Amino acid sequence: ADSNVFRATTTAPVNIAVIKYWGKRDATLNLPTNSSLSVTLSQRSLRTVTTASCSPSYPAVEGDSLTLNGKPENISSSKRTLACLSSLRALRKELESADSSLPELSTYPLRIVSENNFPTAAGLASSAAGFAALIRAIADLYKLPQSPTDLSRIARQGSGSACRSLQGGYVAWRSGTNEDGSDSVAEEVAPASHWPDMKALILVVSAEKKDVPSTTGMQTTVHTSPLFATRAEHIVPKRMIAMEEAITNRDFAAFADLTMRDSNNFHACCLDSEPPIFYLNDVSRAAIRLVNDINRVAGKTVAAYTFDAGPNAVIYYLDEVSEVVGGTFKAILGESLEGWDGPFGDRLRGVSAG
Ligand code: PMV
Repeated sequence: ADSNVFRATTTAPVNIAVIKYWGKRDATLNLPTNSSLSVTLSQRSLRTVTTASCSPSYPAVEGDSLTLNGKPENISSSKRTLACLSSLRALRKELESADSSLPELSTYPLRIVSENNFPTAAGLASSAAGFAALIRAIADLYKLPQSPTDLSRIARQGSGSACRSLQGGYVAWRSGTNEDGSDSVAEEVAPASHWPDMKALILVVSAEKKDVPSTTGMQTTVHTSPLFATRAEHIVPKRMIAMEEAITNRDFAAFADLTMRDSNNFHACCLDSEPPIFYLNDVSRAAIRLVNDINRVAGKTVAAYTFDAGPNAVIYYLDEVSEVVGGTFKAILGESLEGWDGPFGDRLRGVSAG
């Protein structure tokens, strides 16, 4: 290996919100209209692996570069990526000015190589894992002392939901009220170990790129949906409190009820937008009915569905019912689902949360 190349590799998992972020009050800083809460999935499920390197021998004319799934990306056209890189460089510069014995990594071009083990931009939170891994890899390369909550401020500028992927377990993104975004950060509500029975099943209904990118969809909803105003002001604040309580008490029925209602309310706001935005399809709706059937037959709530900006379903359930949940989905929906090019190539797999 080249001795003057500095390198760090890291992986970041996907997180799937149970109280959704939808709507920006500041589109440049990615400040949300409401707080949100997510479960970070296990590293064994959906994740991004990223290597960041820098070197005085990388030609300065080439500048910083990013390769995503083997393809070079044009970062100079991505304001969000540039904002993240310049914030991280500024933190490294602070370290270098305080200690002149440190190598001046902040002045070297960066090379970032990133791989997802799941379809990109298909509503599987690829941007969350992607930006979280990018931030973590460069923070490690630069040996930055900042905490995950501090770094969440930077990750948020890459993709809002990415700020929740720097920590495991149950993570809240507090919307904050400051205009500069200084109090819009992610913090852990409970570690994954708090609720070891919590499981997640990911149904890849479609591996295609989503119709309406989240930023466009959010702006349409914020500007046109009267239902959204009620969601942001009244519905979500109450649900955030109830959700944190459900997690603290490991109350699955309450957790599930809030998760499903919040997913439905978010998709109702999409439908209430002008023009309407449709993320769910027939298979998504079949998955909703199936969860309702499973819960009815069980005589209690043992499973919950949630959907992001796409048709793919994430089912949260307790370990004790994993045979029932996995078996039912495989038998009834297995043929309607697409796989992804993951390392296991499964059409349908159960993965543990956290
Ligand atoms: O982080 P973004 O800009 O890709 O937005 C994500 C929005 C949802 O996934 C639909 C909800 C969420 O809280 O993750």
